[in-house]
Amino acid sequence: MKTSTTITLIYPSLLSFAAIFITSLAAKSAITPERLLKGFTASPNPTVTDFQPLLSDSTGNFSLSFIRVNSDRLALGVVHIPSGESLWRAKMGGLARWGDPTKLVFNGSLVIGDYDSGVFWSTKTDGDRAVLASSSNLRVLNGEKSPTHLWQSFDFPSDTLVENQNFTSAMSLTSLNGLYTMRLGPDFVGLYAKFKSTSSGPDQNYYKRRALEARKDIIEGAGPILVRISSDGYMGIYQNGSTPADVETFNSYRRSIPGPRRVRIENDGNLKAYYWSRSSWVLDYKAITETCELPSSCGPYGLCRPGAGCSCLNNQTDAQNKECYLTQEVGDLCARGSKKFSELRRTGVEPPFKELMAHIETTSYEECEKSCLMNCTCWGVLYNNASKFCYNVDYPIQTILEVGHENKMGYFKILEGAKKKKDRRLGIGIGLLCGAFVVIGLVIGFGVYKICNKKKRATNRILEEENIYTSGHYKDLGSSSSGSIELSSR
Ligand SMILES: *[C@@H]1O[C@H](CO)[C@@H](O)[C@H](O)[C@H]1NC(C)=O
Ligand SMILES: *[C@@H]1O[C@H](CO)[C@@H](O)[C@H](O)[C@H]1NC(C)=O
Ligand SMILES: *[C@@H]1O[C@H](CO)[C@@H](O)[C@H](O)[C@H]1NC(C)=O
Ligand SMILES: *[C@@H]1O[C@H](CO)[C@@H](O)[C@H](O)[C@H]1NC(C)=O
Ligand SMILES: *[C@@H]1O[C@H](CO)[C@@H](O)[C@H](O)[C@H]1NC(C)=O
Ligand SMILES: *[C@@H]1O[C@H](CO)[C@@H](O)[C@H](O)[C@H]1NC(C)=O
Repeated sequence: MKTSTTITLIYPSLLSFAAIFITSLAAKSAITPERLLKGFTASPNPTVTDFQPLLSDSTGNFSLSFIRVNSDRLALGVVHIPSGESLWRAKMGGLARWGDPTKLVFNGSLVIGDYDSGVFWSTKTDGDRAVLASSSNLRVLNGEKSPTHLWQSFDFPSDTLVENQNFTSAMSLTSLNGLYTMRLGPDFVGLYAKFKSTSSGPDQNYYKRRALEARKDIIEGAGPILVRISSDGYMGIYQNGSTPADVETFNSYRRSIPGPRRVRIENDGNLKAYYWSRSSWVLDYKAITETCELPSSCGPYGLCRPGAGCSCLNNQTDAQNKECYLTQEVGDLCARGSKKFSELRRTGVEPPFKELMAHIETTSYEECEKSCLMNCTCWGVLYNNASKFCYNVDYPIQTILEVGHENKMGYFKILEGAKKKKDRRLGIGIGLLCGAFVVIGLVIGFGVYKICNKKKRATNRILEEENIYTSGHYKDLGSSSSGSIELSSR
């Protein structure tokens, strides 16, 4: 008896579990087409929690998918199916919802949009099919015999490069959080940080890879360079031709590896290479090896000591949670007037990536500080008393290096209104106190209201009498058509 009841209880749930399992499997592989033709449409499936394949490559390792972001948002991208990692994402001009109105259409263009907001993104092509190459390159093609390619995702990288993808000076890689980009200069690979509040001025360059281990020098002016990830485990810089002018080797250089490679600019600003080893991505290379050399490893107004980790410039706030400086917005010293900042001085500090920081030479620290004080585009200076270099920081202060040398010192501006953690607790206290006053106020107020109300009723009566004469005017002011008729007929 007992066993049969358990079976009857378990059996249906097993069945439904199997059904869910099978449908999710089916959704993930079997029915994913290998080409999209005109007339194709797809909507996000509400039961999918990670990604929904729409178009598969011939190996089944990659798919063009709807990617579910922050539970209710939708991104369109190319996903590496075994890991769920996205290798490319469409740069959409709006936030698409993971819901009914959002649709992907192929009508010659791949178009994503919804009825309410219109088109978020489109390939703006007139092809006859969209396919996904086994390299993970999404392409829109036209013609059967000798197809011309009208558009390819490799020309619009997001945060990732894959093997054999050409990265040119017309392109950029941008981290998912939008803060960091990789771009090519005339003869170098550069990483840049967007630390300024608006697009005022260029981004800060924090990493530069020149042809150091050059096999063949890059000649400035002899044509643009391009970067390509080689299956042999290196990042090559090319200028004219197929021989790299420079190679940045990975750990797996010239070793055979089981799966595809990718290089991504991460949300911390580092550039990292990985390869797939059948069950996970293996870190193969990072451009910045020293944590303190990352553009903001300890957050704004943080202090990084090599080997010792983070603290705060002001010694007080919470460095572990990168909360040395708590403010909603980055702020702009120029917009708010030069007076509204406080100052902080500290010895034993120097800028990270100082070779890439703008500097002038001054005879003394005082002179260096003075050059910053009255200049609202200056957020701080770092002075080296030995070299007499005065480094200028023209964006809200990020992480500074702690070096301990007494002859290196810094001066920093802190925008007022930037709330520190301590102040927040104080704020709660003040909030509670205010709350209490409000309650007391309400109690007193109610009494006053009762007294006043008697008086008010009396005045109301007078107002009501006045209204008899004024109401017509009020109507006219409301400019309803009846009002103006009333006025003209009067
Ligand atoms: C495809 O649809 C989009 C959005 O509705 C439209 O703007 C575009 O003109 C269409 N393209 C073609 C080739 O019909
Ligand atoms: C990359 O560029 C080279 C020429 O520099 C070209 O032969 C190759 O086809 C390009 N690869 C892709 C995927 O576009
Ligand atoms: C998927 O990639 C793996 C390497 O990661 C490869 O061994 C496998 O053959 C690919 N799958 C198919 C179906 O080709
Ligand atoms: C922070 O502490 C260090 C040493 O513990 C001290 O040298 C420095 O002056 C302090 N800075 C501030 C702003 O209080
Ligand atoms: C103010 O500082 C910026 C850099 O932050 C510098 O380019 C500019 O020349 C300075 N202006 C003056 C008047 O010193
Ligand atoms: C900077 O160096 C000079 C000599 O080169 C020295 O007289 C001065 O005291 C130093 N200043 C500081 C703040 O260490």
